[in-house]
Amino acid sequence: RRIDLIGIATAAGASVRGCGMGPEALRVAGLAEALIELDQVVVDHGDLRRPHPALDASPASQRLPDERRADVLDLAARISDQGLAILDAGNFPVFLGGDHSIAMGTVSAVARHCAATGKPVFVLWVDAHADFNTPATSPSGNLHGMPLALLCGEPGFDDEYQGEWLGRIDPRHVSVIGARSVDRDERKLLNARGVEVLDMRKIDELGVVALMRTLLTRVKATGGHLHVSLDVDAMDPAIAPGGGTLVPGGLSYREAHLIMEMLHDSGLVGSLDVVELNPFLDHGGASATLLVDLVASLFGRAIMGEEAGPVEFV
Ligand code: ARG
Ligand code: MN
Ligand code: MN
Ligand code: MN
Repeated sequence: RRIDLIGIATAAGASVRGCGMGPEALRVAGLAEALIELDQVVVDHGDLRRPHPALDASPASQRLPDERRADVLDLAARISDQGLAILDAGNFPVFLGGDHSIAMGTVSAVARHCAATGKPVFVLWVDAHADFNTPATSPSGNLHGMPLALLCGEPGFDDEYQGEWLGRIDPRHVSVIGARSVDRDERKLLNARGVEVLDMRKIDELGVVALMRTLLTRVKATGGHLHVSLDVDAMDPAIAPGGGTLVPGGLSYREAHLIMEMLHDSGLVGSLDVVELNPFLDHGGASATLLVDLVASLFGRAIMGEEAGPVEFV
């Protein structure tokens, strides 16, 4: 199965600039080479870009938030169409952000593709945040905090957000793992809609293995498509400093890899986002390199080789 890389060079959904350089940093860190090393066939489609790049320098201007929103939605529509074409061709899209608002487009592509085939869609959101705000609940107004709410059909997004491009997912098929910063009204929505939040407390107490086994068993039983959305801030800032919205107490190096290794072994993942990498804030490429290694684990890199498989408990 061919892997199609597509960069989305934007920070329009974030308040901190710099993650528009994310796709290029992931390339420089050796993403394609790591996948080729795993005997994957890789095609890089280059980057989608904002129609109005980098006009968001002045937070004082009232015009600028509208322009940023227009850019987020313009990109989302193009991501959705291009992602759909990649999936319909039978290939595996890897979307390189860019801030997390790009998932409005990436998950829409998956939802549209699977609607045609009747496959249920599941989303694993690997993130310090739940990104389930609406324009009414968001404390910041930043669209990278809202993609899941839009995709789950939450009310409060006006006509500007709607279109052919927008796909829909079932909030009960969404799992957020690694969460440790959830806003007050966002938490109410998550609970009301039945989103599964595997927060850091649960990871501390039960561990990644038990949580992931339960999740993967559920997806496997339905024959569903699993989309993974990996935000750099899911990991602890000590190992992944290259993000604009860091929160302490994140996934350790091995916890993050174990999630990816178990996802690989499940064979259920059909699409991936790698988002929020901010090369300007990164320390010597450490976060870019970590993300490349995590993607490699998702595609089968293993300590003792690909045949080793999961540990069996007898
Ligand atoms: N919950 C906060 C907000 O809505 C932070 C969201 C951060 N999201 C992200 N993808 N980094 O503004
Ligand atoms: Mn996020
Ligand atoms: Mn984000
Ligand atoms: Mn985040």
